[in-house]
Amino acid sequence: MSKQIGILTAGGDSPGLNAAMRGLGKAAIRTHGMTVIGFRDGFRGLMQNRFIRLESSELSGILTTGGTLLGTSRDKPHKMDVGGKTLDMTDLMLENIAAHQLDALVCIGGGGTAKNAMHLAEKGVPVLTLPKTIDNDLVHTDTTLGFDTAMGIATEAIDRLHSTAHSHHRIVVVEVMGHNTGWIALGAGLAGGGDVILIPEIPYQTHVIADAVLERRASGSSFSIVVISEGAVSQEIAAARDRAKIEKKSEDSDVKAKAKETLSRIEEDSESHTATLSKDLEARTGLESRVTILGHVQRGGTPSPADRLLATRLGTACADFIAAGESGVMVAMQNGECVPVPLDQVAGNRKTVPLDHPWLLTARNLKISLGEDQAT
Ligand code: F6P
Repeated sequence: MSKQIGILTAGGDSPGLNAAMRGLGKAAIRTHGMTVIGFRDGFRGLMQNRFIRLESSELSGILTTGGTLLGTSRDKPHKMDVGGKTLDMTDLMLENIAAHQLDALVCIGGGGTAKNAMHLAEKGVPVLTLPKTIDNDLVHTDTTLGFDTAMGIATEAIDRLHSTAHSHHRIVVVEVMGHNTGWIALGAGLAGGGDVILIPEIPYQTHVIADAVLERRASGSSFSIVVISEGAVSQEIAAARDRAKIEKKSEDSDVKAKAKETLSRIEEDSESHTATLSKDLEARTGLESRVTILGHVQRGGTPSPADRLLATRLGTACADFIAAGESGVMVAMQNGECVPVPLDQVAGNRKTVPLDHPWLLTARNLKISLGEDQAT
């Protein structure tokens, strides 16, 4: 009997989702004779049994399109907002999966999706995931769907900011996404020739950045491009955050409450930290500074050729793994091969930029400032 598979896309969207569904669906239908359905809006659609049948015709013409034809959401099966209440809706999802007689559920998403998929796997669902996030922060895969495109968009923005920064002899601070990792900032910063690159893995010192800008000016470069990851913080904030994280585990309820307050204040302030850095740099250097926050533009539009290829390879490989009876895995890209990685090795782990990563060594060789005090 032919296998039935369900697909959903969850978490933040990213370029390459449609290409992945096309690769998976077409290989499933054409090579393995499977039947494919897609649930709308992530785990919420699975809970509400909102689905569409995906035939070859639905999967045609979407290789190059951005977003996700199914829609997405950040809903979690066990913590779903239903009518203003947070409820565990796992059982309803299990019923829907059983009603469709699914032989496999493929969840295309990032770190949160891996955890949610793991939760369903523990309930006996034959689940597989495909690694998707512009942040590139999933472990056990060389790269993730959307990262290359986002890095390309950020690089193009940095290229364009160069000419205007140069004309006005300004500092331009450009904030890129990446959540708590610096992959986009570091990759685009290097590819776009950023003068300072700030990533969450290396808390910065503002005076070091100001010195780097002034040194550039003294050596004849009247402008500077500072590329900052949205999750990057100063050394003082990083220290306060680390302290609060420890104190949050305290037995003393006052200490605990204060720590929680500190953490939420840091979280709130993080929304304006790029603007604060820009103002501080103006004050320290006497130079004009401007902020550009790229935001969701990094997630929009057509996927790069590298992402289309990655999506097509991971998607088709996923169909092969389902046909072979594999489940409880993320289909990862490792050294040019698509390999199944047990979900419990992926869920709950985050791939940060290692401090000895070759991209960091390259930046240091170029004397790009990473905002770190060389003396400490
Ligand atoms: O995980 C992808 C990502 O784009 C992060 O880089 C960013 O922090 C977050 O999602 C933004 O989420 P939302 O789309 O919910 O604003």
